Amino acid sequence: MFLVDVKELSKSFGSVRAVDSVSLQLKEGELFGLLGPNGSGKTTIIKCLTGQVRPDAGSVSVSGLDVFKERVRVRGVVGIIPEQESPPSFLTAEEYLFFAAKVRRMKDFKGAIDHWFDFLEFSDQRKVLCKDLSRGTRQKLMFAQGFLHDPSLAFIDEPLVNLDPLIQKKMKDFLKKRVKEGKTVFLSTHSLEIAKELCTRLCILKQGKIVYSGKPKRNMEGFFLKLVKNG
Ligand SMILES: Nc1ncnc2c1ncn2[C@@H]1O[C@H](COP(=O)(O)OP(=O)(O)OP(=O)(O)O)[C@@H](O)[C@H]1O
Ligand SMILES: [Mg+2]
Repeated sequence: MFLVDVKELSKSFGSVRAVDSVSLQLKEGELFGLLGPNGSGKTTIIKCLTGQVRPDAGSVSVSGLDVFKERVRVRGVVGIIPEQESPPSFLTAEEYLFFAAKVRRMKDFKGAIDHWFDFLEFSDQRKVLCKDLSRGTRQKLMFAQGFLHDPSLAFIDEPLVNLDPLIQKKMKDFLKKRVKEGKTVFLSTHSLEIAKELCTRLCILKQGKIVYSGKPKRNMEGFFLKLVKNG
């Protein structure tokens, strides 16, 4: 059984066919990358896989659960680092992680919270309101909430933008280590360098359709541009 099994997934918004009959499967221990130009359907696919958008057609199974029958359960077992959302403005960074830990029904979460503040080097921001955090620090917080419960499968939409090179390196090493341990990461990215460095396999989308599925190429930029340019 595949950890993620997507068959013939389609989703339109009005006349825009955001996702057009996409099928893909992931096994445990993969670091899978979804690439494609702006508007090609990456975020919509991630939202369909995490029960945030209801597809028009197709089936989606994640960790053995039918995503549209068990939307809440699916979101409980995976980690989600979304593209745009920010943590609530009225909570401190620390309060937000307490909140996330409670939602994930974690029992002993103090150690995990300390670990993430320490690992991403923002312990000094624990008591700062989320609205007053820098953009990169908010991104760190979103990473921390996504991995707090140590999910076997994590969805990351544009992972490393806004993070400084030191934290980017740490996160890349963290993701590589997870995958070596048999955990699975599904990420979308515009960074062809990150895709090449991290991904064990990737798909490239164009206008909602998969136009490449396979290993990263040596010349990712040339390959990508040739595939997605118009005409
Ligand atoms: N809620 C929505 N309502 C209307 N149209 C939407 C909605 N969500 C996405 N779309 C449209 O669906 C298409 C795919 O969008 P999506 O956000 O999935 O692309 P993306 O590949 O993640 O792009 P980016 O690289 O810019 O993040 C776009 O044309 C977008 O405008
Ligand atoms: Mg997107």
